[in-house]
Amino acid sequence: MSSLNPFEPSDLFHTQNINLDPFVENFPIFFYLEYLILNPNYVFKSTETLSYEQLSEHISGYIIGKVEGSQEYHSHISALAVDNQYRRLKISSNVLLECFKNISDYISKVKFIDLFVKCDNKLALNLYENIGYNIYRRVIGYYDNIREPSLKSTNNDNLDAYDMRLCLERDNFQSMKNGGPNNRCLPKDVVFK
Ligand SMILES: CC(C)(COP(=O)(O)OP(=O)(O)OC[C@H]1O[C@@H](n2cnc3c(N)ncnc32)[C@H](O)[C@@H]1OP(=O)(O)O)[C@@H](O)C(=O)NCCC(=O)NCCS
Repeated sequence: MSSLNPFEPSDLFHTQNINLDPFVENFPIFFYLEYLILNPNYVFKSTETLSYEQLSEHISGYIIGKVEGSQEYHSHISALAVDNQYRRLKISSNVLLECFKNISDYISKVKFIDLFVKCDNKLALNLYENIGYNIYRRVIGYYDNIREPSLKSTNNDNLDAYDMRLCLERDNFQSMKNGGPNNRCLPKDVVFK
């Protein structure tokens, strides 16, 4: 059975296996530490007990997020990853994302949760859509580190991101107004009031 625990700086040395998956976002170490200092509620891990006698535990997944915006006050998921050997056991949907939603809804009381997912990450898209997230817009060239993207560029599932949102009750679906996969924008347009 999975348990939820706060993420600690030393856990960064025990998540390399998880981070080898090409769909997992890898960041410089200061990024994780900054999140831990500024948004401790939003950085946590799931663990599995391997041996009750020795009380040894293994990190099966983690989630990293933050709150941002004032008028568009919301929480943002910056990274979500589950170890390959613990996948398809609902650790993401029933443990990590469920807890993230509860903190967002009942503690921070935000309007919505958002995240970016590569358009070709079908597995993650399925996961988010299954639990109620909707595509708000397509961000052209979000993952393109080489060229300056333009709205005239054709869609490229490997370089574009879907900005997905889960509207919480107090938002009354306002944050999804005019949203959808045909709502295209550039990375520079992703700013929050
Ligand atoms: C995406 C990821 C986080 C899913 O974690 P998980 O704990 O295995 O997901 P869950 O068990 O909660 O799966 C929930 C749903 O997601 C979808 N899903 C998850 N894995 C899938 C797979 N291998 N194939 C098809 N659908 C899949 C299914 O709809 C599944 O529901 P179902 O099992 O009832 O069919 C995990 O595969 C991962 O770490 N991937 C690499 C990193 C990544 O893509 N992160 C998201 C970036 S935004």
